[in-house]
Amino acid sequence: RLPPVVTIDGPSGSGKGTIAKLLADRLDFVLLDSGALYRAAALAALNKEVDLSNDKLLTRLAKDLDVSFTLDVGQVQVWLEGCDVTADIRMERVGMAASKVAAIPGVRAALLQRQRDFREAPGLVADGRDMGTTVFPDAPVKIYLTASAEERARRRFTQLRERGVSVSLRDLLEDIRARDAQDMDRAASPLAPAEDAVELDSTGVGIDEVLQRVLLLVRDRV
Ligand code: C5P
Repeated sequence: RLPPVVTIDGPSGSGKGTIAKLLADRLDFVLLDSGALYRAAALAALNKEVDLSNDKLLTRLAKDLDVSFTLDVGQVQVWLEGCDVTADIRMERVGMAASKVAAIPGVRAALLQRQRDFREAPGLVADGRDMGTTVFPDAPVKIYLTASAEERARRRFTQLRERGVSVSLRDLLEDIRARDAQDMDRAASPLAPAEDAVELDSTGVGIDEVLQRVLLLVRDRV
């Protein structure tokens, strides 16, 4: 039997990355941040100055992508062609580029098996947009985590301010809405809850409470 998978999908800023990390730590499961793969592909494209509408070239780039993940004191580090890109892939422009690159079916196909390879004993927590619908359709626990666009923009605003980055809340809200539209309206694996996903709305709910709800589901089903 294959090791169990907990999938956590949802729009950007819903808190799925935080919840996935806490859950993986708690369960001692492997963690897959699938967005980091798309971000690494996007960064490679930006570095090589590949036109983001060149599907063929981007598909080739995704197939050849030299990306790896390592753990450093419990934190995931992302490497692209031997360089540490952990911080670089978090830039807003890389996120937007990732969302463009991720809409290309050839790119998604090229990254599919790489994501499935993360499934190892004792289990996997996978976060992204299509973990429950496409990558791990047989996962015993599927979560669809949402929050209002305003709340997600506020969270991002606080996060950036703590890092000393100054941005306007209104610009962030616009970015979030644009990315939602891009991710939900695409033809290839659009962001959507799997039929058998449990939907959790984290608007006004603390991280601890969301984590407790997810842990209850895992105890029931894994
Ligand atoms: O989750 P994160 O914001 O890091 O993902 C960056 C972009 O990668 C998303 O906006 C989305 O377009 C894409 N992505 C995806 N499928 C996934 C994970 C991320 O299309 N499973």
